[in-house]
Amino acid sequence: MIDKIKIIEAYNFRHACKVFDTNKKISDADFSFILETARLSPSSFGFEPWKFLVVQNKDLRDKLKLITWGAQGTLPTASHFVVILARKQKAMKYDSQYIKHMMEDVHRLTDDVIQKRRGFVKTFQESDFNLIESERAMFDWASKQTYIALANMMTSAAMINIDSCPIEGYKAKEMEKLMTDDFGIDHTEYGVTCMVAFGYRIDKQRNKTRQDTDEIIQWFN
Ligand SMILES: Cc1cc2nc3c(=O)[nH]c(=O)nc-3n(C[C@H](O)[C@H](O)[C@H](O)COP(=O)(O)O)c2cc1C
Repeated sequence: MIDKIKIIEAYNFRHACKVFDTNKKISDADFSFILETARLSPSSFGFEPWKFLVVQNKDLRDKLKLITWGAQGTLPTASHFVVILARKQKAMKYDSQYIKHMMEDVHRLTDDVIQKRRGFVKTFQESDFNLIESERAMFDWASKQTYIALANMMTSAAMINIDSCPIEGYKAKEMEKLMTDDFGIDHTEYGVTCMVAFGYRIDKQRNKTRQDTDEIIQWFN
């Protein structure tokens, strides 16, 4: 059992770190550990609608910096910088090749289970959540799941004393173009949802501000 006090300490240690110490690099082993917590994250129906681009190349980081106002201090200083992509409707629709691949090759389900599950997913996407109505609805559904991986990465990093900053401050249209032109990402397949920088803090952490428990939690007994 992991010590609860230590876990809460890690949550308090984690903060949106705006600038990192450029003299300190995260070891390969530690960064693999962080990525593994992304890979092991839960996703709806287990479809893992994500991809993680680790951007270490300076030219690419410079290009990202031009359109990412929320990472002006972190892009040039982060030990590791990750762009998180979510899959779009083409892949996420219940009858896609990708969903077939996930159920057949990753989940290793039998044909009759696949048939039944595809039916569930169809109902979920068509009526329960109305995801078929627009590209945007389906992308947002996939995007929400990438934030689970984002959170897991930041928490696991904090547990081994590594700082991070989640980043959503970017221009979406320009980002799509950059991903296509410079990262070779097919924008009909994937879109950027958020980014996250990792490294070691150089400045003192700001005081944490949060609402009180009773302002955000309501019990119904
Ligand atoms: C989805 C998301 C997007 C964020 N985008 C940015 C960003 O672009 N740049 C930045 O410096 N901080 C960003 N933040 C950090 C928040 O401002 C920060 O988490 C919040 O103010 C709470 O502070 P703390 O994380 O230090 O406790 C983002 C946080 C989240 C969860």
